[in-house]
Amino acid sequence: MTRRAFVIGHPIAHSRSPLIHGTWISAHGIAGTYEAIDVAPDQLRGFFERLRGGEFVGGNVTIPHKQAALELCDSIDELAARIGAVNTLTIGDGAISGRNTDHDGFLANLDQEAPGWSDAPGPAIVLGAGGASRAVLLALASRGFGPIHILNRTEGAARSLARTLPGPFEGHPLTAFDAIAGTARLLVNTTSVGLHGTAFRDLDPGRLGPGALVTDIVYVPLETPLLALARARGLRTVDGLGMLLHQAVPGFAAWFAVRPSVTAGVRARIAATLVG
Ligand code: ATR
Repeated sequence: MTRRAFVIGHPIAHSRSPLIHGTWISAHGIAGTYEAIDVAPDQLRGFFERLRGGEFVGGNVTIPHKQAALELCDSIDELAARIGAVNTLTIGDGAISGRNTDHDGFLANLDQEAPGWSDAPGPAIVLGAGGASRAVLLALASRGFGPIHILNRTEGAARSLARTLPGPFEGHPLTAFDAIAGTARLLVNTTSVGLHGTAFRDLDPGRLGPGALVTDIVYVPLETPLLALARARGLRTVDGLGMLLHQAVPGFAAWFAVRPSVTAGVRARIAATLVG
């Protein structure tokens, strides 16, 4: 029997997930499919009803549905509950289970691309206080980083996130970067700045502590202006494509019963499609 999986989002046409899962389906000779389905916010509830019919073994959830989907699942894991968002669904016996693999995907990418990056955790800076930020913040806290400074354009959102999320978090405006940067050895961008080559104004990673690591969850383009500047300042950088690949692994393993590897080959295949 062909196992069918999906990714839902709105819009969804530009998602790289079908290419990632399609590459693994072919590589492992699996009788399976993975399709992109455009689901508008007002269709989400109806789509979940359709899922309970058993047509699909599971799928991914992306922008703008990660938070709303959490409410519609029949069960969610503890991490998804803490993050407040799901990105991976599995369906069995008419019940939908949700989990969040962005958290582990973020960590696995850095573990693979910058081995030892969390061996001596200390102060870190996370740019952004939206949905993606929460998974990254909890991931960094799980590795012992602290204090973790949340810097956001809208200061109130950073402060309120720091207050509500359990962990060593402090909220600041983006303009606090220069004052804080010198103590930080890790900088993570979780905002949409960088997408298609946009850049922060007046944010120089050269002010970070010596040997700092800079990473971006934006992966279009692969080297965002922030990463390019960090590299020009002699800092270590890790792009966001690996997080996308690693977050896909647990879902694929659950749906198709094979755990795929994030290899240089699959990375190159997806990277070739990423133009700024
Ligand atoms: P996601 O789920 O991808 O995190 P989101 O919840 O909409 O998306 O969050 C977007 C984040 O990017 C927010 O932190 C947002 O800052 P604000 O809270 O001030 O809106 C940040 N962001 C988006 N565009 C930005 C820009 N041009 N400059 C700085 N920050 C920006």
